[in-house]
Order: sequence, then structure tokens, then C-alpha cells
Amino acid sequence: MLSIQKLNQYYGQSHTLWDIEFEIPRNSCTCVLGRNGVGKTTLMQSIMGLAPNVDGALIFEGQDMVGMAAEHRAPAGIAYIPQGRQIFAQLTVEENIRTGFFAARKKHSVVPQELYELFPVLKEMRHRRGGDLSGGQQQQLAIARALVLEPKLLLMDEPAEGIQPTIVAEIGEVIKRLNTEKGITVLLVEQKLPFARKVGSHFVVLDRGRLQAQGTMTELSDDLVHQYLNV
Ligand SMILES: Nc1ncnc2c1ncn2[C@@H]1O[C@H](COP(=O)(O)OP(=O)(O)OP(=O)(O)O)[C@@H](O)[C@H]1O
Ligand SMILES: [Mg+2]
Repeated sequence: MLSIQKLNQYYGQSHTLWDIEFEIPRNSCTCVLGRNGVGKTTLMQSIMGLAPNVDGALIFEGQDMVGMAAEHRAPAGIAYIPQGRQIFAQLTVEENIRTGFFAARKKHSVVPQELYELFPVLKEMRHRRGGDLSGGQQQQLAIARALVLEPKLLLMDEPAEGIQPTIVAEIGEVIKRLNTEKGITVLLVEQKLPFARKVGSHFVVLDRGRLQAQGTMTELSDDLVHQYLNV
């Protein structure tokens, strides 16, 4: 679905990503693992066209997106949920979801019922302000807004960060359903290993901007975990 080839990225003089190469198979849930500051978010932003100075190739469904403007990547079928969720605190839940309408391929006038079926709590709270929601509810809202785009590929940056454990499990279930029932391919940045093992089918490990390992989730060995992750 997405082939990443010789991807390099620079913040000014600082070379952040080094010759990253991997494939995201269709219908997979691929987890990007690695310690703080290794370049996970920069990788996501590079895919979305939000990071400066990216070279290499990003072949999405046969088309190279390097050089394609960020605003054209969502309509091409890629959605991104940034780290920290970034919902609008002052807008209501429903208004937050509606902000996804502008970039959507299909034109909507009302919030698709399907989203409220996936996240009943958002229906209950649709007139409340985004800022009044709990962390877990905000994450559900961020996912709902991204789903308005009907993405083929969904990028999520640490969706379980700062969320209480029971809700983390619920979010894990939702990601699995999107992946298996709706056929959405997922690229997930995750530092919580049990969560990654539960929802992920494949993994890549980053360390100091370089890809150090990749494989199917069952191939993620304890050695790799000790060498490259905090556990
Ligand atoms: N806008 C920026 N300008 C300059 N340097 C940046 C910028 N954003 C990130 N960096 C640097 O690039 C490196 C990778 O950062 P990045 O945020 O991609 O890491 P990360 O793996 O997502 O970390 P975390 O686990 O803390 O979210 C870090 O050294 C960081 O300081
Ligand atoms: Mg990050």
C-alpha cells in the first residue's frame, strides 16, 4: 500500500531520518517502535507532507508523494491523527467532526451515523465542547474526525498516550475493528509494548533516525525489545 524508499529528512542542518526503507502491506497494522526522540513523529509528518526537507520516495498506491502538497495527501486517502490529538477545545464534538468534512472525498452534510455507532459516547456528548472531554474521549473524537476522510491508510501517533488503561483497551479494540472490519491499513506509533503486540500485525524499530529492525509482530524478539525500547 505504501512503499517508503531511501527516505531522508532534515531540520535545517540536523539530519533526522536516515535512509528509511520499509513497506506497509495493505490491511496491516504496522507499529513504529522506538524510544523518545528517535524520529517517529518526524516519520509520520514526512509521510503527510508536514515535515520540511524530505527526500527519497513515498509510493502510495503506485504514485510517488514526495513533492505532493500536504493538502493533496488527505484526498488521496491518507489520514493523520497527530500526537496529542489536537482537537478544537472550543468547538463542540459535532463541530470537531465537521472540520473533517472539508477535506473529505465524499461530501457530507451531517455526521455519518456509522461514526456514532462506532463511538456511542460521542453521540451522547455531541453538543459538549471538545475541551470538556476526557483524554480517551478526545482520542475517540480525533479518530472519528479522521474517519470522515474515509482513509485507505490511517496514521496514528501514540493514540494511547496519557489515557487511562480501560480506555486504552477500548481504543485498541476500535483500531483492530477499523483494520479488520473496515479494511483500513494502519500505521501506528506506539511506545507501549503490550498495546503494540495486541493491535499490531507488523513492526518497524527506529533508533536515532535509522530503521534497525522490521518484521511481523510475532518476530519481535526480547533481544530487540531490550536493545531498542524502554521496558
Ligand atoms: N520542528 C523541529 N525542528 C527541529 N528539530 C526537531 C523538530 N521536531 C523534532 N525535532 C528533533 O528531531 C528528532 C526526532 O523527533 P521526533 O519528534 O520525530 O521524535 P519521536 O520519536 O516522535 O519522539 P517522542 O517519542 O518523544 O514523541 C529529535 O531530536 C527532535 O528534537
Ligand atoms: Mg513523537
